[in-house]
Amino acid sequence: MKRLAAACVATLALAALAGCAQAPTTAAPATTAAPPAAMAPAATAPIGAPPPAARPGASPGAKFAAFPCLSYTLPCGKAATRKPVAKSLEGPLAGDAARGMRIAHARDKGNCLACHVMKGGTQPGSRGPDLSHYGSTGRSDADTFAAVYDMRARTPETLMPPFGTNGVLDDQEIRDVVAYLQASR
Ligand code: HEC
Repeated sequence: MKRLAAACVATLALAALAGCAQAPTTAAPATTAAPPAAMAPAATAPIGAPPPAARPGASPGAKFAAFPCLSYTLPCGKAATRKPVAKSLEGPLAGDAARGMRIAHARDKGNCLACHVMKGGTQPGSRGPDLSHYGSTGRSDADTFAAVYDMRARTPETLMPPFGTNGVLDDQEIRDVVAYLQASR
């Protein structure tokens, strides 16, 4: 009886390690009966055990689906991602370029420098295009506003965060950032 219980716990711990890809049916009891995967002792998976994808019943195409979920608060694969929004600029831009530069560079605000080279900015990343001469490329305020608001409306698989849709920057802050980009020549 004791051995059976131990085996049960081990099975549940393994199910937790395998992540939520195994559908809520296995994941649900695992979360109530076993500690979260990351807190379970590493020793629960026997050395030399087959990788998750090789377990019986796992579909051959599901190799990556068996990775453990990184979120403790959202069910795996069910993160509440907001739908892309194609936002139009209302009225004249009325942005303040100097304020926009501060917002764009602030690591706790736009943090555009994480991915873009920008005029006046230091330590930029290079994942996105160089924006240091954006103002001479002839893009309209409306297109630029929409892009910063939610780039996914233009490029569905973009890396760029949807600053407006996610409420990271408000309407006026985006106007200021656009004014700064347009003033970057
Ligand atoms: C995580 C990386 C990342 C961050 C942070 C980021 N961007 Fe981007 N951005 C990109 C990538 C990548 C592209 C290229 C187009 C695409 O993937 O959609 C891009 C494209 C753009 C474009 C279009 C450029 C063009 O030539 O059409 C603008 C404008 C822009 N970003 C502005 C910003 C601003 C302003 C911020 C900060 C408020 C910002 N980005 C933050 C990754 C990022």
